[in-house]
Amino acid sequence: MKKTEKLNLSVVGTGYVGLTTGLALAYLGHKVHCVDKNAEIIDKLERGIPTIYEPGLEELLKETSDNMHFNSSIKEHIDMVDVLIIAVGTPSKQNGDTDLTYVEKVAQEIGRSLPPDNPLVVVNKSTVPIGTARRVETVIKEELKERGIKGNFSVASNPEFLREGAALNDTFYPDRLVIGAEDMRSINVLRQMYSPILEQNFVPPRLVPRPEDYRLPAFVTTSPTSAELIKYAANAFLATKVSFINEIAGIAEKVGADIKEVARGIGLDKRIGGSFLHAGVGWGGSCFPKDTRSLLHAGQQYGYNMPLLKAAVEVNYRQRKKIIEMLQSTIKVIRGSTVAVLGLAFKPNTDDIRESPAIDVIEELLEMGAKVKVYDPVAMDNYRSNFPYQEIEYASSVEEASREADAVALLTDWEDFLHVSWKDIAPQMKQKVFIDGRNLLREEDMQKYGFTYRGFGC
Ligand SMILES: NC(=O)c1ccc[n+]([C@@H]2O[C@H](COP(=O)([O-])OP(=O)(O)OC[C@H]3O[C@@H](n4cnc5c(N)ncnc54)[C@H](O)[C@@H]3O)[C@@H](O)[C@H]2O)c1
Repeated sequence: MKKTEKLNLSVVGTGYVGLTTGLALAYLGHKVHCVDKNAEIIDKLERGIPTIYEPGLEELLKETSDNMHFNSSIKEHIDMVDVLIIAVGTPSKQNGDTDLTYVEKVAQEIGRSLPPDNPLVVVNKSTVPIGTARRVETVIKEELKERGIKGNFSVASNPEFLREGAALNDTFYPDRLVIGAEDMRSINVLRQMYSPILEQNFVPPRLVPRPEDYRLPAFVTTSPTSAELIKYAANAFLATKVSFINEIAGIAEKVGADIKEVARGIGLDKRIGGSFLHAGVGWGGSCFPKDTRSLLHAGQQYGYNMPLLKAAVEVNYRQRKKIIEMLQSTIKVIRGSTVAVLGLAFKPNTDDIRESPAIDVIEELLEMGAKVKVYDPVAMDNYRSNFPYQEIEYASSVEEASREADAVALLTDWEDFLHVSWKDIAPQMKQKVFIDGRNLLREEDMQKYGFTYRGFGC
């Protein structure tokens, strides 16, 4: 295979990771089949309608139409692809373990439809527990055995590190690409697939410009087991970093220090770094909660205690309770009060609400008898369809949500919330209480507008 040769790819699972990856690889010139078992997703994507919210995605969907096909199964194209990327969901089971049903289903489908001779590299991009590359190989082999053929395939692990809300940026301009493989062929094919990214020899998409200070990514090759652990370790580390600053925020409040000053003071140390040092309501989303649970579960299976990670999880969920405590200490009586919850997505620039802090906070407020009004720039439909039974009022703007409310609880740091005229909103509220779950706004300004302001660690 020549270095410049473009590949035929199949990306199975067209969610946040699969769709982003598929679009980026199609933009870079590969022929891509994006596959999803959800017919509605395929139908919309075929019509150029984005199925998730991600900056730059809609334009890329239009731009890549020549290289991109959407399918509901791998059967029709598996005989022509060089690489098949598994990017399906890996949710948590009740006991914290990872549910591999979707991954195994894809492995079965591969085994049932793989032609006898065409070489195929199967890539696990889903976040999966240790040993899953081996498990996928076993499942495929079992299916091939049933058919009386051996097939010609290898399985590699290629964990994904993108951040929702910046998914395309992170895919085109990653810090590193990690490939866990046992054979050179897989490594070489994947190096070729990623060569435009490794060499940065493409014209950036209009809405996804190359960051000015961007340096070429590292290509890290490891064993599949190490690659699988790298993903969990990375997320566990970041989750712990956030919980660490949240723990320090608690003591900052007690002693009268300002956590923003403290975070800056420690983050400027290159050994520590300033990112993921923002105190607030803590992490949620589709990754940190389930990945920390999964790693803790792996520890349990191996009889290995992980007290640091356990504490990081405990601190994180304590932050959600603190929002309620802050409301209790300001508006005092929750029952019968109106609380405007601003932000439903687990972070800004996404419509993803999975394990978002807003879910727990709203649940608790409703249980305590509050009237809840909510507003989010893009995640309202997602929230409504996941929690249709809840008695909450959906507002069409920050102003509408806050009007006549006793308190505002800001839970997602959407930039839009910075550009709202809080000065004009304050007089329209019943009690001017502002709980800033992301330390987004300036305390001095909010106090000037008449708010009783509470942030984390100040
Ligand atoms: N979302 C993130 O920010 C992120 C970042 C890094 C890694 N990951 C990991 O990537 C994986 C995917 O995450 P996501 O957020 O994109 O999930 P998602 O839920 O958004 O998308 C998964 C998609 O897979 C489809 N699917 C399931 N089984 C299928 C099958 N047999 N055939 C075809 N399609 C199938 C579903 O219909 C769904 O559209 C997970 O393991 C996750 O932990 C996610």
